[in-house]
Amino acid sequence: MSKKTVKDYIRTIVDFPHEGILFRDVTTLFADPRGFRMAVDQMLHPYAGLQIDKVVGLEARGFILGGAIAHQLSVGFVPVRKKGKLPGRTISQEYTLEYGEAIVELHEDAIQPGEKILLVDDLLATGGTAEAGIKLIERLGGEIISCSFVIDLPDLGGRKRLEAMGMEVLSLCEFEGL
Ligand code: PRP
Ligand code: MG
Repeated sequence: MSKKTVKDYIRTIVDFPHEGILFRDVTTLFADPRGFRMAVDQMLHPYAGLQIDKVVGLEARGFILGGAIAHQLSVGFVPVRKKGKLPGRTISQEYTLEYGEAIVELHEDAIQPGEKILLVDDLLATGGTAEAGIKLIERLGGEIISCSFVIDLPDLGGRKRLEAMGMEVLSLCEFEGL
């Protein structure tokens, strides 16, 4: 029997949250001790020996991965949160969702100019969420070393969108289609 890969631990739910959507569910990856460690280790591996000052995670599943990665790198963790959740002074960034607009926020003192940042989320689809996070980090003067995801959905164009912004994009696996 061949060894399981990260992709093997991801469950697909049909017709969630809408008919016709195949939802790539990472809760089954996170719940498995080997799967979760494998994902975190593989996301960390490219940065061994490189300077990373902070990990920034995108709400909500990016917090789970980002916290584990930050702990392993012995650096701080900073959340990008949906509007109205952060208690201190924030900067905001609007982005487009499938239906309508949303806003994410970052504490304005969470990143110092010149700090080297690793941006983390579970999934890259259109890239709208990640782009909003990138803009927030760059507005505070952070230097993004890389954007790291478990899943890339290449048909939705997020990777190209972030690469066009000059970002390095890493993912552990891809799924075809939506
Ligand atoms: C999902 C996923 C990514 C984002 C990717 O989050 O976790 O953050 O969508 O989509 P995009 O590349 O098209 O922007 P969601 O907005 O469902 O919120 P959640 O993580 O808080 O559940
Ligand atoms: Mg998300």
